[in-house]
Amino acid sequence: MELPKRGIDKAELLADMRERKQQDADWRGARTFSLIYPAGPEVDALLEEANGLYLYENALNPLRFPSLRQMEVDVVGMTGALLHAPESAGGCMTSGGTESIIMAVKAARERARAERGVERPQLLAPVTAHPAFAKAAAYLGLELVQIPIDADHRADLRAAESLITDQTALVMGSAPNYPFGTVDPIPELSALAHERGISFHTDACLGGFLLPFWERLGEPVPPFDFRVPGVTTLSADVHKYGYATKGASVVLHREQAHLDQYQRFLYSDWPGGLYFSYAMAGARPAAPIAAAWAVMRFLGEEGYLELAQKIRAARNEIQAGIRSIPGMHVIGEPVMGVFAFASSRDDIFAIGDVMDDRGWCVDRQHGPDALHVMLSPEHAGVAAEFVADLRAAAESHGESRGVQARYS
Ligand SMILES: Cc1ncc(COP(=O)(O)O)c(C=O)c1O
Repeated sequence: MELPKRGIDKAELLADMRERKQQDADWRGARTFSLIYPAGPEVDALLEEANGLYLYENALNPLRFPSLRQMEVDVVGMTGALLHAPESAGGCMTSGGTESIIMAVKAARERARAERGVERPQLLAPVTAHPAFAKAAAYLGLELVQIPIDADHRADLRAAESLITDQTALVMGSAPNYPFGTVDPIPELSALAHERGISFHTDACLGGFLLPFWERLGEPVPPFDFRVPGVTTLSADVHKYGYATKGASVVLHREQAHLDQYQRFLYSDWPGGLYFSYAMAGARPAAPIAAAWAVMRFLGEEGYLELAQKIRAARNEIQAGIRSIPGMHVIGEPVMGVFAFASSRDDIFAIGDVMDDRGWCVDRQHGPDALHVMLSPEHAGVAAEFVADLRAAAESHGESRGVQARYS
């Protein structure tokens, strides 16, 4: 495409955009399972207005937009309180889980260099850790050392202990991980790091805004937040189960001093004046900060609890359905509504194809071959239909297998 010589009429342009969007996933119908976390029309309407109010501002300079600065402080404060961060804690907002993780890895690298003289830093992460850790290691010059997982699909502690060296700059665990939805043994893993003066990061990008409410619902939640003494940093994404629009995550440090010393970038050798920032971006969109602040205040504890209840209802119905289909099973013991399922009888990817044909966007993964879902509140309304379609897909696949067997 080339820049048009003469600008296109607004109505025509918007019609073109609407037309293009027809090809995209139908997330409003709750038929997609990750990427978007719909929380209902009321929340959508609030998000649109909150974004609109701060569409043009720039969060680079907090002095120019004090309302924005205060919103960031408030979001970090509310998130810290939810995750039991101590008085000494500090944090900032970033554009998403990946940026929060990159900043935590960077801070751990600086800390290891300053406090332990680590020159060839290593990052110890379970194989189930999100690729953002591999990305951070690649960007920041750390060696990624992978911890195998045990039969429960959680980091293998013995292996982790044997992999720690005097060059380990950061150990991490997920709460939960994306592939299986299991939570790593954070108290034990972080103790291994803590005893040696090594930083430990809990990746609660997925669980940070759901596990606290899951716990209040009486569901079993393994320890993962700042109540675990060895956790030094934690990431929690407001744009996932915080239900904000994209571009909003929080990275927290147990010690504000570590945030200032090891994460913040300060540069005074520039004719343009003093420059500082806490994360990768320079100019930062204001709308995600405003939307995160607005949705957290709008929902409050009661709103988040209600949404968690809906996810639990969807989880219960879909998992029970999966377990009732011959040969089909949920992998491991997922903690929330993020999980993978496989079949010992049928080709699970063929079943996935049938689900696609029926309009569901179910994710695929391997190791083992499985389908993957990430439930959001709106899935409670379609759980029965999902199970019925899955059952029909498994049956039709079973029949075609039978037909193939007869003719081969
Ligand atoms: C466990 C976990 N950590 C980190 C991330 C990265 O978050 P983002 O896509 O916002 O960068 C994800 C994304 O799904 C995730 O599931």
